[in-house]
Amino acid sequence: MSQSNDILQVLLTEEQLKAKCAEMGAQITKDYQGKNLLLVTVLKGAVVYLADLMRCIDLPCAIDILIVEDILDSGMTLSYLKGLLQGRNPASIRIATLLDKPSRRKVDLQADYVGYEVPDEFVVGYGLDYDEKYRNLPYVGILKPEVYTK
Ligand code: IMP
Ligand code: MG
Repeated sequence: MSQSNDILQVLLTEEQLKAKCAEMGAQITKDYQGKNLLLVTVLKGAVVYLADLMRCIDLPCAIDILIVEDILDSGMTLSYLKGLLQGRNPASIRIATLLDKPSRRKVDLQADYVGYEVPDEFVVGYGLDYDEKYRNLPYVGILKPEVYTK
C-alpha cells in the first residue's frame, strides 16, 4: 500500500524543497567563502536535507554525522548540542534548519538559516518519520491523525 494514503495534506512539494535547498546552499556558499566548512547533521531526520543541501554548496566541505536521536528524544536540546560542538573549538557555529516549528520551541533558540516555518502539526517525509516509516517520501506532508491514534 502506498504511504501517500496516510498523508492528510502535502505541506511542501518536492519542487519547493529543492528550490529552498538551492536558496540556502547559495547563501551558505556566499557566507563561507574562504572558510573551512564542516557540515554536521543529527541522525536520522536530517540526512535527506544534508544530502540535498551539501550538493547546493559550491565550496569544499567536510561532513560529520552525530547519532544523538535517543538522547534528543529524552530531552536533549539543540542548545545542548551546540555546547557539545563548541568543545571542538570551531571558529564559529551556525544552525541551519529546513523546517522550523516555533510553536514547539523548548528553549529560546533562533536558527541562522531557516527554510520553512511549519505549523504545529506532525509532519513526515523528506527524512522525517513516524514509527520509522515515511522518511522516503519526497515531500513533507501532514500525517493523518488516525495513523498515530489507532
Ligand atoms: P528522527 O526521529 O531521528 O528522525 O529525529 C527527528 C526528531 O524531530 C525527533 O526528535 C522527533 O521527535 C522530532 N520532531 C518534531 N516534530 C516532528 C514532526 O512533526 N515530525 C517528525 N519528527 C518531529
Ligand atoms: Mg523520528
